[in-house]
This record gives sequence, structure tokens and C-alpha cells, in this order.
Amino acid sequence: MSHIRGRFHKDADESVVKYTASIPFDWRLYRHDIAGSIAHVRMLARQGIILEKETEVIVQGLIAIGEEIEQGKFQFKPELDDVHMNIESRLVEMIGEVGGKLHTARSRNDQVALDLRLFAKEAISNTLVRLREFQQALISLAEVNKSVIMPGYTHLQPAQPVFLAHHLLAYFEMLQRDIDRFNDCLKRTDVMPLGSGALAGVTYKIDRDFLARELGFSQISNNSMDAVSDRDFVVEYEAAASLCMMHLSRLAEEIILWSSAEFDFIELDEAYATGSSIMPQKKNPDVAELVRGKTGRVYGRLVALLTMMKALPLAYNRDMQEDKEGFFDTVDTLLVTLEVFTGMVKTLWIKAENIGLRVKQGYILATDLADYLVKKGEPFRNSHHIVARLVSYAAEKGKLLSEISLADYQEFSPLFDEDIYSVTAESSIAARDVTGGTAPGQVDRALTAAKKIIREFRSGK
Ligand code: ARG
Repeated sequence: MSHIRGRFHKDADESVVKYTASIPFDWRLYRHDIAGSIAHVRMLARQGIILEKETEVIVQGLIAIGEEIEQGKFQFKPELDDVHMNIESRLVEMIGEVGGKLHTARSRNDQVALDLRLFAKEAISNTLVRLREFQQALISLAEVNKSVIMPGYTHLQPAQPVFLAHHLLAYFEMLQRDIDRFNDCLKRTDVMPLGSGALAGVTYKIDRDFLARELGFSQISNNSMDAVSDRDFVVEYEAAASLCMMHLSRLAEEIILWSSAEFDFIELDEAYATGSSIMPQKKNPDVAELVRGKTGRVYGRLVALLTMMKALPLAYNRDMQEDKEGFFDTVDTLLVTLEVFTGMVKTLWIKAENIGLRVKQGYILATDLADYLVKKGEPFRNSHHIVARLVSYAAEKGKLLSEISLADYQEFSPLFDEDIYSVTAESSIAARDVTGGTAPGQVDRALTAAKKIIREFRSGK
């Protein structure tokens, strides 16, 4: 019988062992658990709570256990509940009774809070690196295709010409906000909970600041009851991940559309596309579809966590063990999605010619024609009306705007003149010279700013 069942006279029912054990998933916290334990015993020795030589034996034991786990030699036991008890029990088995001193001045409640925070900090830093790599892929694609003009859409209807680079940099901005959110979440994750004990603090003269320094935390928690029952940082990571996946799903959807025969704006590299088992002509954008699909899964994890935490009384409750699988899955899903998506963006190519054809169609210069009349003195509302009639006339005749004769133009308004033919996609774009607009100078500036952000990140600023 394990020591967590000390007061009982019988073993837990087998179904209960299985039901309550977290080891099938929390074994993943072993590195963080061991790091936390090593810092903890070192602190206990410094404070004279255990002997220096005992500490060395415990530390060596913990290191050896870490190696056993790495090498797949460690046998995790469900009857020992979780990663914390599994490691502690192996320690005692390995080094004898002195191993039992490790858990002095500590509870699994503050221990698991610490482990999860260490895991989360690592997850955030990995996420930030992947987000920067994704941003870099967007910048490269934008730069290589810097001169490509495409139809911008609203309601998925051709609206006005924009630079493809401008469109891609919109996603750079979304990811920039994601990065801000993860950085912000890091501030609240970076709080060291050890010393909170089960809920009320511990009776030993421990040094929490030392623990924080050893483990790389910039703050220590203020309230022991909050510290053992706070999972806000997990909620925040999952919320930031949900938003990020939402952004990725939007680009995924565009990639699906653009790679369709109907749009034909891009070609996916074969390494990032799949075939059909029945239709030989198919080149399917499965990666993008799965990005879209996995977004739902990440949202689900967030809602599950919020629901699990709802109305939990202070302090620790076993419900909270349910935080882990969703969190691990969210981190894994987001990281792998960013990795694969970055590869797909890096290898796809733009069919500039096809895009160019679409720019000519769809009457995307209609707004510019209305602006043309406004500049000649026509009130905007009238201009809008005149151009609407003109577009419907052109559509009926099956003509592009550039194919309409000046005489025909003048039927709609005498203000139309020879210079109407100098209204082009290029002039339309150049005219939108406001901060954040699609004019060449603006897009150039945005690209330069984006590259600077990436450079600064790389140099660790
Ligand atoms: N496996 C537990 C969890 O993940 C660790 C904390 C257990 N604490 C307790 N009092 N049973 O939440």
C-alpha cells in the first residue's frame, strides 16, 4: 500500500486507481518536477532543514531518475497516482529512507502548481519562436512577390486592388498581437508558487526567493491559497492559442480557396499537398484543412478548462488534475500547426499571371472611377450611382472597363475624359497612400518595420 493511503485499511479499488491516476499523462512533467525538487532540497539544505550530505544523495538520486526516464527504463505505476509520487517513491527505493526527506515543507499541491508553471513557461517560449518563424515566412513570401497586385475582397467578392504583400502583412499583424498575448501571459505565469504547501503555507523557515532565483522565476506568489488553486495562466495560454488558431484558420481558408481551380492563385508544393485515392487529378490542401479543423479542438480545450474551474471552492480540488491533458494537447497542437504551416507557406508559389487576369476583371476599379468623378466636382453619392450604372452596362455587354469607349463613358457623365484610361490597378493602389494603406511606399514601410521586429527578436532585444 502506498504512503498516500496511510490512514486506510484497504487498497483502492482497481477502477478507482485507474480513474484517479494522472500518471498516464502527467509523466510529461518529469523534467520540471525533478528541477523543482532539486531546487527545493538545495533550499532546505541552505536553511539547515536537512543536511548538506543528505541533499547531495537526494540530488544525485533525482538526476539518476531523470536519466532512467529519458532512457525509457523507468516504470511508471498507476497505483502511485502521479508523476510526483512515482518519482519520490523511486527515490526512496534508490537511496533509502533519506529520500523521504525530499517532501519536507512541501505538498503536491504547490508542487504540481510549480511543475505546470515551469512547463508553461517553456511552452510559451517555444510558441514565441514558432510564431516568429511563421512571421518570417510571411515576410519572405511578401518580399518575393512584392510587385504582385491582387483583388482585395469583401464578402468574398472582388472589391479593390491591393498588393499581395499588403494582404500577407495583415496576417503578420495578427500574429504580432498573438505574440503580445503570449508575452503578456508569460508575466502571470512567471510566478513561483512553492512554499504555499497544501494551502496555508509551511511551518519551516524556507527561502522562497532563493527558490524563485534557482528556478528562474521573477516573482513569488502572494497568497498560498490562491497559488495552489490558480490555473489562470493555463486558461490564458489556451485563450491566446485559440485566438492564434483562429488567425491561422483564416489564412488556411484563404490557402484552400486560392489553391482551388476556381481561384488558381497559388500552387502548393507537393510535399505539402495530398492526393486522392480515387480521383487522380486531385491535389488537396489537407494541411490547410487540418489547420482549420484543429482550431475547433483548441477552442474545445479552452471551454473545457474554463468549465472545469468554474465555481471550484478554494483551494486545491482534484478536479484540477483535468487541466493537464487539454493544456498539453493545446501546446502540442499549436506548435505542430505553426511548424507545418510555416513549411507550407515557405514552399508554396504565387501564380502572378492568373492573379493579374483577375485584377482586370471584376470591376475592382469602380471605386476609383467614382473618386475620379468626385475630383471633377460630382458629389460622391451621384458618382457612386453613375458608376453603378456604368458597371451594369459593361457587365451586360461583357466588357472590361478598359474596353468601353470614351463616347460610351460620356453617355453616363460628361465629366469623363481621355484621362479615364489612366485609372488602373497601379494608380488605384498608389492613390491609397495613407498610413496602413496599400500604396507602394506604405507597404515598403510596413515590410521594413516587420523585418526590424524579426531582427530584434533574433538578437534577443
Ligand atoms: N495529480 C495531481 C494533479 O494533477 C497532483 C496534486 C495532487 N494533490 C492532491 N492533494 N491529491 O492535480
